[in-house]
Amino acid sequence: IPVASFDCVVFGATGDLTTRKLLPALYYRYKDGQIPPTSRIIGASRSEITGDQFRERARDALKRFVPGHDLTEEALSAFVDHLGYVAVDGAGEDGWEALAEKLAERPDQVRPYYLATSPDLYGAICRNLARHGLIGEKSRVVLEKPIGKDLKSARAINDAVGEVFPEEQIFRIDHYLGKETVQNLLALRFANTIFERLWTADVIDHVQITVGETVGVEGRAGYYDTSGALRDMVQNHLLQLLCLTAMESPLNLDANSVRDEKLKVLRALKPITVNDVQHVTVRGQYAAGAVEGKPVEGYLTDLGPGSQSRTETFVALKLEVQSWRWAGVPFYLRTGKRLPQKMSEIVVQFRASPFSIFPEESFGREPNRLVIRLQPQEGMKLEVMTKDPGPGGMRLRPTGLDISFEETFKQRYPDAYERLLMDVVRGNPTLFMRRDEVEVAWAWADSLLKAWADRPEAPRPYAAGSWGPTAAIALIERDGRTWHEDL
Ligand code: BG6
Repeated sequence: IPVASFDCVVFGATGDLTTRKLLPALYYRYKDGQIPPTSRIIGASRSEITGDQFRERARDALKRFVPGHDLTEEALSAFVDHLGYVAVDGAGEDGWEALAEKLAERPDQVRPYYLATSPDLYGAICRNLARHGLIGEKSRVVLEKPIGKDLKSARAINDAVGEVFPEEQIFRIDHYLGKETVQNLLALRFANTIFERLWTADVIDHVQITVGETVGVEGRAGYYDTSGALRDMVQNHLLQLLCLTAMESPLNLDANSVRDEKLKVLRALKPITVNDVQHVTVRGQYAAGAVEGKPVEGYLTDLGPGSQSRTETFVALKLEVQSWRWAGVPFYLRTGKRLPQKMSEIVVQFRASPFSIFPEESFGREPNRLVIRLQPQEGMKLEVMTKDPGPGGMRLRPTGLDISFEETFKQRYPDAYERLLMDVVRGNPTLFMRRDEVEVAWAWADSLLKAWADRPEAPRPYAAGSWGPTAAIALIERDGRTWHEDL
């Protein structure tokens, strides 16, 4: 279904995010006929390049980041015809008149301003937009993460943006919410009765959330080293996955109903204090090793000669959601760079049956497990006990009821940004974070950062290509449980 005609202004148009994610996402939507031909994508950045040069760069980017079988010369040329460029100094004075003139050519368009820049510039860009009369009812502003580096800086950004845009026009992206399988969690939980009735501390033993990456810091060392895995991944993506797993049923799918329920989960997260930080958290940093058969350097070497960084590239946590539904059910989270696999999954481990009528050696009390695979090989597997076929007596073994989304739906899974960008144009903020969500998540992350700072310890090294430091294994094994390994 085509969206309304729009002029999308992308600040940070020559940056990594635009090149890798935004242009390919817009290309796919265009190719699928969702973007009306009167729409324009206007790149804005400080680089003094011409429109033709920008279109040339966009061509190169698409050739690199869109698989060849989805790229025809005809579609590529038609798409880049919709691109324009204005050199604008986001935080300064230059270029704003030119941008205003360009936008004035089509005053009735929906107008998303996508801020793919450093968050330090968000406030200044928004003030400039206001000063040049560029904000109207059909404008929206899209903020990439990270929104700050702690609660204080997040509030400052939210205040600055909030001075010129009302909350309904602010779209804070957490691209994990745009992933098909993440949305499928809502369908799984709230469109089926079989799971929701069992989704409580009475039946669930614990939950695991893993987001593993094989990449290192790539070209982003400057940003990453001031951030670390807690700020980069946990404060946003992993907590959002936890929210969707743990939240109560929203009244409906309206943005505020969903966000109200997620907010309650964030509020119920038990803050981690200096007294328990050693027992419930592990920080790691990758050392040299091999990932997918290729030798790779350690984090300190990736940063450059002489680096002493203590930034964590891996975190494992044991969290508590303090509510009736989840009392006593630990949520184990882990994420890291240079792990053996790029893999995200949520594992819901049910309790063992209370009593076994089967002989001891038949493993009759093996608990059920639901594995929700978010990427890659998206799908779901429910492990149930079955009888081993044959005349050998009543021997049991776990078997998987398996749904592979790829095989079931046989269609390309759109990238998260495709869905989210179209939601911005439609003005639907359900899959975006509200101000209070971001700030409550930061307040929780701040408590952990403070606990770490009060008990300073170097991150534990782990070999690239392993599942993190051994302490992360001990974190869960101390409780008589193990990380899910059926990978
Ligand atoms: C980003 C982080 O938000 O998410 C990156 O800043 C990380 O460090 C990326 O690599 C992971 O996203 P995905 O979609 O590849 O799982």
